[in-house]
Formats: sequence, C-alpha cells, structure tokens
Amino acid sequence: MQSKNIQIHLPLLKEKEVELFVKREDLLHPFISGNKFRKLKYNLQKAKELGKTSLLTFGGAYSNHILATAAAGKEYGFGTLGVIRGEELGEDVSKTLSKNATLQKAANFGMEFLFVSRAAYQQKHQEAYIKGLLEMYPNSYVLPEGGTNALAIKGCEEILTSSDDCFTHIACAMGTGGTVTGIINASKKYQNVGVYPALKGNWIQEEMLKLQPNKNNWTLFKEYHFGGYGKVTQELVTFINTFKQQTQISLDPIYTGKMMYGLLKEIEQNQLKKGSKVLAIHTGGLQGIAGINTRLAQKNKPLII
Ligand SMILES: Cc1ncc(COP(=O)(O)O)c(C=O)c1O
Repeated sequence: MQSKNIQIHLPLLKEKEVELFVKREDLLHPFISGNKFRKLKYNLQKAKELGKTSLLTFGGAYSNHILATAAAGKEYGFGTLGVIRGEELGEDVSKTLSKNATLQKAANFGMEFLFVSRAAYQQKHQEAYIKGLLEMYPNSYVLPEGGTNALAIKGCEEILTSSDDCFTHIACAMGTGGTVTGIINASKKYQNVGVYPALKGNWIQEEMLKLQPNKNNWTLFKEYHFGGYGKVTQELVTFINTFKQQTQISLDPIYTGKMMYGLLKEIEQNQLKKGSKVLAIHTGGLQGIAGINTRLAQKNKPLII
C-alpha cells in the first residue's frame, strides 16, 4: 500500500528555493496510522504463521503504538493485551478510561490492560519478566514497546519507493529509531535522511549508530525535542496550528510537529541548498492530540486545533 506525496507551499520555501513534499502515511488507516501500519504488517503475518491468538505489548497511557495494536488485533482477529506504565491508573479503570481517549479507544477495540508500576515496566525487555507475562497470557505474540523489531524495520523499508528517488533529503521523526532505520535502509546514497528525535539525551547518537552501522547518509538534529518526550511548549502549539492553517495538514505534538518545526528551521537557517527537494514523512500519531489538549486545557493554555 502506498501513500501520496503532497507538495507544501509556504513563503519560506519559495524564498529559499526549496521544494517540500509530505508523505501522507498518516492517511493509510484511521487507527493503524503512519509508521504503525508499517511496523505491524510483517509482525502480524508472523503471529498468524506461529498460530498465536493474541498480541501482547507495552506502552505509556497515551501511546500511539498501544492504540494501533488494539485496532490491528480487532481487524486481524487477535486478542490484545496492553501492559501500561503506571499502576495508579489501574486503581479505578473506568475513571482512567473516561479521562484518556487513547486507552478508551483501545478498550473499545477489545484490548485488556495490565497496569504496572514504573519499576516493573522497566523490566519490559527482560526475558524472565516476559516469561511471567506469557504464563498469565499464553499463546501471545510479544511486540516490544513502540513496536520496533527486525520485522518492523522491514515494514518501514516499504515507506520509500522508487518514485521517491528524486528527493535529495528525507526527514523523519525518531522515537525508538525503528522507522528511520527502515527509511535509511531503503534510501539512496545521494539522499540525506534527517533524523528528528522526539526525546532528549546523549544516548540517541549511539543508538542510531547501533541501528545504522553501515550507512552514513543521515544527520541527527537533536535540538528540536522541546524539553523531551511528551513535552509541549506554547511555541510548538502555535507552530502546529499555523502549519495547519497554511497547509490543511495536522501534525501531532509528540513527533511530527517537532520534526516539521526542526526541518523548517533548518531551511530558514539556509542549511539546505537552493534546489533541494525534501520529503518529510508524516508518521501519523494524530490521536495523541486529544491527550495533550486535555493537559493544555487544565493549564488554561491555547489548544491544538
Ligand atoms: C507518530 C509517530 N511518529 C514517529 C515515531 C517514531 O518511531 P520510532 O519509534 O520507530 O522511531 C512514533 C513512535 O512510534 C510515532 O508514534
């Protein structure tokens, strides 16, 4: 399945003589959107091949991956279990769901939840912890937090196609790095892939080098995290709202909003040569707007439109 590339017209792009297109992966599916669709594709096939009856995965309370897994389970005939960070959320589940659109929608798709302490959640990669979960939920196919594994990367290699060979630059948001690894694998040597982490930390460079030991046609832009994962400033909200008014394209505040802000800043600062042709990957995540807007409303701040 392929998504459309849409050209963006902004005065800045005209002035700098840079062409910008957005790959609308966000339109692939209403709930399994963007990179989630790509990450789940081969994993779902594998789970079927292995005769698994449910999908077990991990996430925070507003996770795009949790909702996508719940929707995929419903659509492809698997039960789903979400191991969610924060045991306090399990004290009164109906109250939690009433305040959290992500978990409510996941529950509507039939997902069951296990709310665990932050300490327990940290063991999510440990074999013994996963074994214990599988004893409680047998015949489950385990997907890691964020959905990144080798099969997910293989799926993300299908984001770019030969018709994207004309681009000189590709831009993509980064969380675990799985999506951008697939994109770099599929990119041409003459293309530069801009990696825009939604998190802050010095480990990111090392993680990228681990994920991408062979190709070096990528650049890490570490300064557009807006304070860290899930952190949102007024400047970011204003940017997302202005971009929507100018282009009719919604961006999410956790990943794609930060990536687009960073990319346009780089263009503004003349970091891209005249004549560059850029493809920004819209990796979806728009369901996350509701959760951030709830937080903004509590603080009487302007909302994302
Ligand atoms: C909307 C969106 N964009 C980008 C990413 C980053 O993907 P990855 O974790 O593969 O780096 C995520 C996280 O999965 C996401 O939900």
